[in-house]
Amino acid sequence: MAREQWGSKIGVIMAVAGSAIGLGNFLRFPGQVAQHGGGAFMIPYFIALLLLGLPLMWIEWTIGRFGGGFGHSTAPGMFHSLWEKNRFIKYFGVIGIFGPIVIALYYIYIESWLLAYSFFALTGSYETCATSEMMLSFLRGYQGLEQNQYFSSLWPAYSFFLLTFALNGVILYFGVQRGIEQVCKYGVPLLLILAMILLARVFLLGTPDPAQPENSVLGGLGFIWNPDWSALTRAKVWLAAAGQVFFTLSCGIGVILTYASYLGRNDDVALSGLTAASANEFAEVVLGGSLVIPAAFAFFGASTMTVIAQSGVFNLGFVTMPLVLQKIAHGNFFGFIWFLLLFIAGVTSSISLAQPAIAFLEDEFNLNRRQSVLGLMTAIFLFSQPAIFFLGRGVVDEMDFWGGSFFLVLFATVETILFGWVFGMDRAWSELHTGSDITIPRFYRWIIKYVTPLFLLLILGSWLFQDWLPVLFCQGVPEENLPYIIGTRLMLFTLFAGLALMVRWSWQRRAVNSGGGYDD
Ligand code: ALA
Repeated sequence: MAREQWGSKIGVIMAVAGSAIGLGNFLRFPGQVAQHGGGAFMIPYFIALLLLGLPLMWIEWTIGRFGGGFGHSTAPGMFHSLWEKNRFIKYFGVIGIFGPIVIALYYIYIESWLLAYSFFALTGSYETCATSEMMLSFLRGYQGLEQNQYFSSLWPAYSFFLLTFALNGVILYFGVQRGIEQVCKYGVPLLLILAMILLARVFLLGTPDPAQPENSVLGGLGFIWNPDWSALTRAKVWLAAAGQVFFTLSCGIGVILTYASYLGRNDDVALSGLTAASANEFAEVVLGGSLVIPAAFAFFGASTMTVIAQSGVFNLGFVTMPLVLQKIAHGNFFGFIWFLLLFIAGVTSSISLAQPAIAFLEDEFNLNRRQSVLGLMTAIFLFSQPAIFFLGRGVVDEMDFWGGSFFLVLFATVETILFGWVFGMDRAWSELHTGSDITIPRFYRWIIKYVTPLFLLLILGSWLFQDWLPVLFCQGVPEENLPYIIGTRLMLFTLFAGLALMVRWSWQRRAVNSGGGYDD
């Protein structure tokens, strides 16, 4: 079966930018900034971007294109191509299919809240919520966490989930060029335009309450951009900043590997990787950083805003932002723009999370696209039910810890060492520059070989001490949630084991077909 291909260079850049620009930029980033004291977060963030984010972007684009040359679109085959003699490395590659599926299990559900809230904004459904408490109650009612005057069942949320899920399935069904590429080519510019419109409106908020002149949009920008050097000694801020860089760039997930595998042998990766990363950073620090925080700061002040952010990463986006926008003229319209732009950002990301598994089924099992999409979407549908029905039991946080944090860093560490040390820096550098439109400064050779892996190992090490063991033994998990957390872990383990068996099976089949020339 012929492998899929991108239609144009701008198409692949938009697709990678679409994957990167997501809920992470507009919801998670401001939440993290507020939680970690504004300017204190930004220095570790930029350092992590230059030493981890950018190198990983180049590493993944390069490995992806290289693996694509061997007919592999996913990490097991790519890792095998980089280290042919090692029989086990392909099993590390399983993370590159497993991780994005795990994120998709809750990401698509959260995306569906955004579709619902766009609708609620237009119809004025949350108009009567005049305080943070009321808006939070509206959100909790919608999520099925409580029955109240706003919602008496989970059906509205479930219906929007079904709609969003179907939309993702349809886009994926149309494939890489006619589905993903087309949606991102129009979706990314559209969401950026919507964000700029909203940005102009937020900047016009000025100082909403003259009696409290310190609460202003400018004050909010100062909160982010006045550097606080003391944060450099706080390990937790470094971890959070590095985690945010991974999440936002879609690095360490396996998605960029798959997207880059559809490139031609001499297509540029150096400039394209840089462009996609820059587009994401524009959307994150310029747009994402100038919406929620300045708006929340102007209306509520620094301390209240920090408390709201600490009460939940989504609260600024789903509670504070609609509340602020309601206070201005045409608030429903601006609320609609806010949630719509987030929804588009979510769709262009969630389709990318599904693509590695689809490509795996196509490549390694010779299924056609219809069969692959159907198979994967059935699995996602079944496995995402706990995230919907047991949201209040910590299931989503559990999935996010494994899929969205731990495995991401582990995967990035493996691929960086594989690239710089096993494949070898000389080959790696020349592979990165094959067909390249720019020459990357030479000091990045040194960064990719030494600094990035060391940084990653430090993060993994400190996690092991600070978070990992307490998380592993469910410390701090309320007794009544324990069965749900253990159930989620069993489910994720089953998924991982199933994928690992599929890899083993497909390698054995190839070994037989190639007359023993393919090591299983
Ligand atoms: N990179 C995607 C986001 O920021 C997953 O949401």
